[in-house]
Amino acid sequence: MRPHSLIGIRYSTTPPGTVVNGDSSVKADVFIEGEKIVRVAPDLSKDERYSKASLVIDATDKLIIPAGIDPHTHMQLPFMGEVACDDFESGTKAAVAGGTGTIIDFVIPARNQSLNEAFQTWSDWAKKSVCDYAFHMAISHWDDNTAKEMEQMVNEKGITSFKHFTAYKGALMLQDDELIKSYTTARRLGAIVTNHCENGEMVTAGQRAMKENGIFGPEGHPQSRPVICEEEATNRVARIAETVGVPVYVVHCSCKESSDVIARAKSRGQRIYGEALAGHLTIDDSHYYHEDWDYAAAYVMSPPFRPPEHQAALWNAIQSGTIQTTATDHCPFNRRQKRMGLKDFTRIPNGCAGVEERLAILWNAGVNTGKITPNEFVNITSTNTAKIFGLFPRKGLIAEGSDADVVIWDPAREITWSAKTHHSRVDMSVFEGVTCRGACEATFVRGRLAYRDGEIFAKAGDGQYIPRKPFAPFIYEGLEKRVNAPRKTERNMEALPDLAAKAE
Ligand code: URP
Ligand code: ZN
Ligand code: ZN
Repeated sequence: MRPHSLIGIRYSTTPPGTVVNGDSSVKADVFIEGEKIVRVAPDLSKDERYSKASLVIDATDKLIIPAGIDPHTHMQLPFMGEVACDDFESGTKAAVAGGTGTIIDFVIPARNQSLNEAFQTWSDWAKKSVCDYAFHMAISHWDDNTAKEMEQMVNEKGITSFKHFTAYKGALMLQDDELIKSYTTARRLGAIVTNHCENGEMVTAGQRAMKENGIFGPEGHPQSRPVICEEEATNRVARIAETVGVPVYVVHCSCKESSDVIARAKSRGQRIYGEALAGHLTIDDSHYYHEDWDYAAAYVMSPPFRPPEHQAALWNAIQSGTIQTTATDHCPFNRRQKRMGLKDFTRIPNGCAGVEERLAILWNAGVNTGKITPNEFVNITSTNTAKIFGLFPRKGLIAEGSDADVVIWDPAREITWSAKTHHSRVDMSVFEGVTCRGACEATFVRGRLAYRDGEIFAKAGDGQYIPRKPFAPFIYEGLEKRVNAPRKTERNMEALPDLAAKAE
C-alpha cells in the first residue's frame, strides 16, 4: 500500500475515544501529513484539509496512543551456536502487528571484533526492517581501541547507550575492571550504560552443581541461576555506576531482590532505571518442570522466569516508579535450535519471543486489572523509553511535530496468542493460549500504515535508522545539576577525571 499524504484519525464524541499520552488523555482528532503528526485538536472536521485526507480512520471507542518502543530486541542474533530465528524483517513485522513502531536492537560484537565492524554488520541486516530502529552497542571485551570506538559510536553513528553483561562466562561476560573502563568512557561521552545483571561465576558454579546432581533437563536452568545471582550483579552494577557517576539502566529485571536494589539506589539519589519484560511480569517458573522437554525448553531464557511472588513484586516496582520501561528481549529460537541442549540444559540457546505480544499482554495484565492506568501503560510501553534513550519527543508522544508513530488501540478487541498465528517465525510461544482483552487495531510508522486488522502493509526497508544524540536531557540534566551541587555525589564526579584517565 502506498503511503498516504494526508491521514485523518477521527475521534467521535462517544467516550472513550481518546488520544492517550503518558501525561494526559484528551478527546481529539489527529492529522498526519507525510511522516509527522501535524494537528491534534478536537473536531478537525471543520479543518479544510480534512476533506482532502486520502485515508480517514474512525477511532470511535478506540484509543490513539504512541506506537510502542521495544528497547530490548535481538533480531538474528548469533548466540550459543545458533542464530535467533527472526531476522529484522520477520521480527519487525511481528512488532508492528502488536503495535510497536520502533525497536532498539543490540549490536553485539564477537569477542575481539571491532565495534565499527559489528555496527556495519548490524546496519546491513537491519536494512530489511519494516519499523524504525536504533541500536545499543554491547561492549564484549576491552582493548586499546575500545574507548576511541565508543566515541565514534556516539559522535558518528548515533549510538548513545552501551550494553554490558556480567553473565555468559567465557563469551560476553566482562570483569569489573572492564565495566569501570567502559562506564567511565560512557560517562565522558554523555551516554548511558545498560547491563544484563547476573553473576556469571555463580551461574557457572550452579550449572556444575546441577550436573553433579544428575540434573540435565530444562529444570536445571532456573535452579542454576537463582535470584541471588541477579541480586548480586545488580547491586555491583549499581554501585560501580554510582562510583563512576554514570546513568545506568538495568535490563530485564526479573525479581523482587533486583528491583529492591534499584529502589535503594534511587533513594540514594542515583540516576538508575529498570526494565521489566512482559514475560517476567506474567509468566512463572512452573513451565520448566513440564514433562515435555520441547515445551519446557521453550521457556529457557536468562534471567529465567521466577516464582509467582516475583511477578507481583515487578508490578509493584512499576507502580512505585522503580521500574520505568517494559521490553521483550525478543530473541527466539525454534524447537530444532533449542534441541542443541537436549542432553545438557546449559547448551539450550537462551531466548524467547515477545515483540508482538508485549502491548496486549501488558494492557491485559496491567490496565484491565487496575494495576496501571492507560497513561501509565503508555509511559511504560513508549514514552519513558523514548526519554531515557534520547528519542523523545520525536517518538513516544502523540503531538504536533512528533513522528506519526501512531497506534489505534481497541480496548475491547480480544486476541488469543499462538505460535500458529503470530508473525514471528518461532514455532513455540511462551504466551501460547493466553487471551488478552485490548489489542492493536492499526499501527502507523512515520505516517505509513504498517498494520491494520490482521494485515501487514509494511515492506522490508520501510523502517529507518534513528540516530540519537548524547547527553539526553531526561537522563543528564539532573545529573549535571547534581555535579554542581554540594552533595555526596559531587565527590564521585570530582574523582571522575582521575578515574577516567586511569581507566582509559
Ligand atoms: O536469554 C536471553 N535473554 N537471551 C538473549 C540474550 C540476553 O541475555 O539478553
Ligand atoms: Zn540479557
Ligand atoms: Zn537481551
